[in-house]
Amino acid sequence: MWRGAHLIGMHGADAEELRALLDVAADASFEPDAIQGRAVANVFFEDSTRTRVSFSLAAQRLGARVVDWTSAGSSVSKGESLLDTFGTIEAMGFDAVVVRHHESGAAQLLADHARCAVINAGDGSHQHPTQALADALTLGEALERDRGWDFTGLTVAIVGDCVSSRVARSNAGSLAALGARVVLVGPEAMVPAELGEALGCAVSHDLDSVLAEIDAAMILRIQLERGAGELLGQGFDYQGRFGMTRERASRMRDHAVVMHPGPMNRGVEIEGAVADGDRSVVLGQVEAGVRVRMAVLEEAIRRSV
Ligand code: CP
Repeated sequence: MWRGAHLIGMHGADAEELRALLDVAADASFEPDAIQGRAVANVFFEDSTRTRVSFSLAAQRLGARVVDWTSAGSSVSKGESLLDTFGTIEAMGFDAVVVRHHESGAAQLLADHARCAVINAGDGSHQHPTQALADALTLGEALERDRGWDFTGLTVAIVGDCVSSRVARSNAGSLAALGARVVLVGPEAMVPAELGEALGCAVSHDLDSVLAEIDAAMILRIQLERGAGELLGQGFDYQGRFGMTRERASRMRDHAVVMHPGPMNRGVEIEGAVADGDRSVVLGQVEAGVRVRMAVLEEAIRRSV
């Protein structure tokens, strides 16, 4: 998970490192001295609401100074490369750079050239590690797992556009490290068998058949900007086959929760009444995101000194 001071992804995540971050986030046992007065840059080449705002708030709560940079309106429009843009921002003296980019591998590329800590806030369809941490914290707290963060015996269905999803890839790594069984659920084009093999997850193309056995349904956004429409083909009844409707939610176990990393396409992958209903922990995921990002920033800067 950690590569020195960098947090790039959850592949091969270490359970002890995960549990240490979750403990700090859950207990709010931050050590602000580690980050007070340090400088954090949010460098976002792709749109974001939750991740960017929560990283800013997390840094501010710990007493750091934060600069938000977005590619819109920047010298990227003049042809400045990713590495030149990053090097320019880093040269101003930041201790940590939080980066989101549309290319898979962008965060690792920057970490390979960085002197400061690099935290991946989402790179293409590759990884989104702090979303997976927020999801693990939400799940553990919602299902009242004890502070060992041992998810043995839990089954989590990740439902939808898995092939396009960095959230699915990161959660597959972190949930497996914590002991959960993960099932990728969706149309064959979005959940090919080889993806399940690569991520070490079970695969199902029938949401209805897994509803009664899962503890959580993690619903993914249909990513039209990454070609989801072409994957499905014309006339595919996505909501009818894979939408998390009220009727489907009613067939889940009493304690089971519905998650969504956001932003949601209401009426497509999730019915509005489910998103706002009793099983939903969607806003809990957002709140948990601030706490895990505080823990991540603190640890990244501690590791970089
Ligand atoms: N879940 C998530 O990454 O949301 P944003 O794109 O709004 O940051």
